[in-house]
Amino acid sequence: MRIDILTIFPEMFQGPFTESIIKRAVNKGLAEIHIHNIRDFAKNKHKNVDDYVYGGNAGMVMMIQPIADCINHLKQEREYDEVIFLTPDGEVLNQGIANQLSLKQNIIMLCGHYKGIDERIRQHFITREISIGDYVLSGGELAAAVLADSIIRLIPGVLSDETSALSDSFQDGLLSPPVYTRPAEYNGWKVPDVLLSGNEKEIINWNYNQSLERTQTRRPDLLEDKI
Ligand code: ADE
Repeated sequence: MRIDILTIFPEMFQGPFTESIIKRAVNKGLAEIHIHNIRDFAKNKHKNVDDYVYGGNAGMVMMIQPIADCINHLKQEREYDEVIFLTPDGEVLNQGIANQLSLKQNIIMLCGHYKGIDERIRQHFITREISIGDYVLSGGELAAAVLADSIIRLIPGVLSDETSALSDSFQDGLLSPPVYTRPAEYNGWKVPDVLLSGNEKEIINWNYNQSLERTQTRRPDLLEDKI
């Protein structure tokens, strides 16, 4: 999979993609991430990427030209399955969306700033608009990093043990059960006996019941969809 990220703050992606699972996915050649500075495509003298909002309201809006040129430049090289705009008024990201997107080959992610982007970009270039939650970030960069992470870890071969993605919270519509590691007792706090019993069937049952209980108490809305 190839992800092209369009941003005016390319340095913001230094951390999230150069560590841990995403780094491994890139090193294994399972994911390619290309960061593009929208400002490099600005044709005006001062390399401006924003301008005043029409209609007299306060604030700046990201201009069409640099973004359109950047997207067109990429589209000349290859076909894209999705051109995603990260925005708080998009559809809210969930595991189902991450699963869908993990099957794609080429994705563009556009990070907005200021008061937003010229609406004509959304109308003519964007195929999908995604929010990472009902709160407003300073820009789309952190949202793009979250989205990319949620997708890349699902690509087959990225996680060393593929079942660990399958057993993630949400993957089967339930939250994950609690997990423990050694020692079996710390400070008088014990690991549940069943997990030490070696009885696989009982352990599977216990995990399932814990998942269900957690989902019922923490996220009953997830169960409503199932009824
Ligand atoms: N840009 C600003 N806030 C955002 C959010 N919650 N999700 C996606 N992009 C955003």
